[in-house]
Amino acid sequence: MLFKAKDKIRLGLGIDLDPKMIDFANEKNKTIYPKNLEFIQEDINSFQKLSKYEIDITSSTLCLHEMKEIDAINTLESLAKISSRILIADYSKPKSFWAKVTIELDEMISGHYGQFKEYRRSGYLPYLASKSGLVISEVNETKIDGMLIWELRPEFQA
Ligand SMILES: C[S@@+](CC[C@H](N)C(=O)[O-])C[C@H]1O[C@@H](n2cnc3c(N)ncnc32)[C@H](O)[C@@H]1O
Repeated sequence: MLFKAKDKIRLGLGIDLDPKMIDFANEKNKTIYPKNLEFIQEDINSFQKLSKYEIDITSSTLCLHEMKEIDAINTLESLAKISSRILIADYSKPKSFWAKVTIELDEMISGHYGQFKEYRRSGYLPYLASKSGLVISEVNETKIDGMLIWELRPEFQA
């Protein structure tokens, strides 16, 4: 997502728990210009340094459904503290049977099926948003059945 957005942003910071994802991004980053992207390996839930940033837009792609509910809520609350626009791309209720089966099988072998089931049963991203004091200001379709992009903002934003 950051690579796609690189020409429209001044600076982009990518965070992932998995060092392999960061290695992949850093490798790809070597070939781009201007050098306005940075990638760091960190658990978003323990990333206290996040509060030092003033960020226009924060986003998360297919990450929250991997977390325990409490961690996903904490993450959303942290994002809301540092930015007024939050974009979350994650699983939604699939329309077709095949999308449902594909997502379910993919998640079964993912290593975080328990978290995914909790995410699905509780009501996907809208439930997490409501528990985090955030409202959904926009919902965008994607080309993938069973995946939406939600824009969130704090419930009591002026
Ligand atoms: C399905 S992948 C998506 C990766 C990337 N956002 C993308 O769209 O290509 C989900 C990613 O979330 C990361 N993740 C899960 N929990 C995390 C956490 N607590 N802090 C940071 N990253 C986390 C995983 O390491 C994994 O790489």
